[in-house]
Amino acid sequence: MSNEKKLHPESIAVSAGRPAPSPDAPVNFPIELSATFVVGGPIGYGRYGNQTWHALEDAIGALEQGSTLVFSSGMAAINSVFSILPAGSVVTTSHQGYNGTMNLLKSMQEGGHLEVRFVDVANTQEVLDALPGTHLLWLESPTNPTLTIADLPSLISAAKKLGCLVAVDNTFATPLNQQPLLMGADFVMHSVTKYLAGHSDVLMGSISTQNPALLEKISTARKLGGAIAGPFEAWLALRGLRTFALRFEKAQSNAMALATRLSVHPKVSIVHYPGLANDPHHLRAKSFMNGYGAMVSFLVHGDAATADKVCASSTLITQATSLGGVESLWERRRRWAGESVSVPENLIRLSVGCENIEDLWTDIQSALMKA
Ligand SMILES: Cc1ncc(COP(=O)(O)O)c(C=O)c1O
Repeated sequence: MSNEKKLHPESIAVSAGRPAPSPDAPVNFPIELSATFVVGGPIGYGRYGNQTWHALEDAIGALEQGSTLVFSSGMAAINSVFSILPAGSVVTTSHQGYNGTMNLLKSMQEGGHLEVRFVDVANTQEVLDALPGTHLLWLESPTNPTLTIADLPSLISAAKKLGCLVAVDNTFATPLNQQPLLMGADFVMHSVTKYLAGHSDVLMGSISTQNPALLEKISTARKLGGAIAGPFEAWLALRGLRTFALRFEKAQSNAMALATRLSVHPKVSIVHYPGLANDPHHLRAKSFMNGYGAMVSFLVHGDAATADKVCASSTLITQATSLGGVESLWERRRRWAGESVSVPENLIRLSVGCENIEDLWTDIQSALMKA
C-alpha cells in the first residue's frame, strides 16, 4: 500500500509510482524490457513482476487505497477473481452490467465451475435476498450501459456481515467518484483501458485489495494464468494516468452539460445520467458519489435503424465501442450480439471526451437531425 494516501487524488495521479528522487534519477521509471532477472531479487522472472508494472500498480493502488496488480486487460483482471473461487461457489451479480463479465459468468456456470445469481443491482432488496449462500458479490455501479446505481455502502456492509467477498468494478466511477475499498469491499477492479489510461491506445486491467491473503491469491492466479501486461503498455498507461484527474473532470462536466441538453431534445425520449436531478438514481448517487461520471446513455425516438443512423452521422464523435478516452465515442449497444436483451434496441451509449462542449453539441444535434 502506498504512503501517498493523504494526498488528494489529483496529486496522487501525478506523483505516485515515480522513482525515489536522487541526483540524476529519472523522473519516470523506464520501460523495463526483460523476460528474466538475475537470481537473488524479489521478482525472478518476467511473468512474476516488472518494475514498469510496479510503478503503475503503486499509482493505481494509491488512488484506490489498496495494493494493486495489473493484468493484460480488464477481462483478465475479472477472470483472476473468479478463478480463485472454489468450484461450485455462488456468485451474485448484475443481470444488466458489462456484457463481458455477465457472459464470462454464464460460461463458467454452463461449464459447471460456478453458480450465478443474476439480480438487478439497483434493487437493494433483490440483492439482499440473493446474499445468503453467496460467496462473491460482484457489483458494477454505475452499470454499463444503462447507468443504474447500486447502493454500494449498504450492499457492501450487508454482504460483509454475511462473510461474503465483495468486488466492485469501478471502471465507470473511477476513484475520483468513489473508493469501494474504503466502504469495505474486498476487491476493486478497473478496465485500465478506459479512464485510467485514457487514450484508447492500450488494453489493461487491475485488481486492488487491502487484504494481503487475497492479494497473494490474485498474484498467484496472475503468475499461473499468465495474463500479464506488457511493460510498454504499463508505461503508456502510467503516462496516461498522470492526466487522469484533468481529463476526467473535463469529460464529466461535458457529460453533465450534454445530458441536460439531450434531456430536452425532441428526438430523444429518455436520457440515463445519474447527475440529472430527475434521473431515478440521482439521489442515491448523490448520497455517496463525488460526481456522476462521463458516460451518458440515451434512447432516440425510433428503432435500431434510427439509432444506427444517428451514430453513423457524426463527424466529431467516432462511432466505436469502448470508453474513457479523450475522444468522444458512441455506439448503439445492442449492435453486439452479447449485449443484454434488457437494453433497448434504440439505446445509444456515449462516452464523453474532452472536446469543446459546443463542438460536441453541434455534432450531436446535427446527427440527430440527419436520422
Ligand atoms: C465496465 C467494464 N468492465 C470491464 C470491461 C472489460 O475491460 P477490457 O476491455 O479492458 O478487458 C469493460 C470493457 O468495456 C467495461 O466497460
